[in-house]
Amino acid sequence: FHFAAPANEPVYSYTPGSPERDALKKQLAAFKSQQADIPMYIGGKEVRTGKTKDLRPPHEIKHKLGHFHYGDATHVNDAIAAALAARSQWADTPWEQRAAIFLRAAELMATKYRYHMNAATMLGQSKNAYQAEIDSACELIDFLRFNVHYLSEIYNQQPVSSAGIHNRLEYRPLEGFVLAVTPFNFTAIAGNLPTSAAMCGNVVVWKPADTQVFAANVTMQILIEAGLPAGVINLVYADGPVLGDVCFSHPEFAGIHFTGSTAVFQHMWASIGNNISKYKAYPRIVGETGGKDFVIAHKSADVDVVATALARGAFEYQGQKCSAASRAYLPSNIAEAVKTKLVADLKTMKQGTVEDFSNFVNAVIDERSFDKIAKYIDNAKSSSSAKIIAGGGYNKSEGYFVEPTVIEVTDPKYVTMCEEIFGPVLSIYVYDAEKFEETLALVDSSSMYALTGSIISQDRYAIDLATKKLVNSAGNFYINDKPTGAVVGQQPFGGARASGTNDKAGSMLNLYRWLSARTIKETF
Ligand code: SER
Repeated sequence: FHFAAPANEPVYSYTPGSPERDALKKQLAAFKSQQADIPMYIGGKEVRTGKTKDLRPPHEIKHKLGHFHYGDATHVNDAIAAALAARSQWADTPWEQRAAIFLRAAELMATKYRYHMNAATMLGQSKNAYQAEIDSACELIDFLRFNVHYLSEIYNQQPVSSAGIHNRLEYRPLEGFVLAVTPFNFTAIAGNLPTSAAMCGNVVVWKPADTQVFAANVTMQILIEAGLPAGVINLVYADGPVLGDVCFSHPEFAGIHFTGSTAVFQHMWASIGNNISKYKAYPRIVGETGGKDFVIAHKSADVDVVATALARGAFEYQGQKCSAASRAYLPSNIAEAVKTKLVADLKTMKQGTVEDFSNFVNAVIDERSFDKIAKYIDNAKSSSSAKIIAGGGYNKSEGYFVEPTVIEVTDPKYVTMCEEIFGPVLSIYVYDAEKFEETLALVDSSSMYALTGSIISQDRYAIDLATKKLVNSAGNFYINDKPTGAVVGQQPFGGARASGTNDKAGSMLNLYRWLSARTIKETF
């Protein structure tokens, strides 16, 4: 069974008056008028504990969307037991039968439930319609289809045989269960982490961020409708430390597929290390963590290209993409022109709720995030090394709104140039246009992260120099573009250093991690 490379799912534009805009608006209204009662899904059963947490749109915190039922150590243990009970039948299921379930889920997401997926992401995570469309529709559908394709390529990779000898590689799933811990910022990533492991024949315990539960629930319901057998993916909501204590001390813990903060990932890694002698096999540890993504412009750069890369790269989805541009290095010859254009562009970006489709910017995810971002902005307001040249305002009376903010710094190692903020804040440093090579060294040494970055230049030698000097500074490197918006099947995504294990999402490199091959030699 070979599944050829699919085409990327087409992106709907939701232009005014289009039937898709009307359908999406209807679904938004439907979700808003319901009070969702969201269970956990353990061993194919819906589990309601009665201990609940409320769900509210980050841009409209006085409105309740519903609640979800929270679990404790018992439920995490139940989820592991359900996963292990499902394991042998799932692992023995012919791979094309497993693949069919995920392809069917992709089809349901592309058709019957496209607006459910997008409306849930818009309301739960405060994404505008276009940002939701490229995430919870297109990217997740692409992950499912492309991973089936990549897995079929892997299964077909076989060693050579010779006269009298037949060699083969059997790509088995891992022995035990895989834990998927998923972030709020992409419904696609949240859906990809459990499904990519499950597709390979693994059984999974899935714990999404509390702030992504609304869309995670829709994703899970679609997987069930597509025919996912009971226990293959178990969706639980629990506190991180409780989840970690139970999963990492379990002898059948086989691996973790994680996207989230560097600090949490390092803590998990240490805890897995402390338990290493308990496990049957060395667990696979796969994580995509923080970023401090850069844009460096060369003196030959086109002003409009730089300004657009910054406006879109830094402020789409309120700067909460792990790939978002958050530090820019502008050459002195064009810096003023870029700043003027950028500040003018920001003035056209309306901010507000997701239901008004003309809003480019919505709210940041929660109060903790809002407070953290506000602190960085306040710090810049009182620092002699920084000056706010756009935005700087914030208000949480109706929702967690932070204005798109641009900070110009005189010290290239000022805190907002080095630390991850995860919000709509861009820092700019103007460098001497004749000191390009020195500035490349500065870009490389200013942050512990290495996720994404861009060089903007019309000079081929400068592009070549930046590509070489920044070889370890970004896992995804862009030439003359913003550093966000990797497309599955086109730009495999992931970073190294403190940004993760660089097992590119949406590629064979990632899927190999969920397989444990057996070599079989047969002699005739
Ligand atoms: N894949 C997303 C992007 O490239 C980030 O996770 O923007």
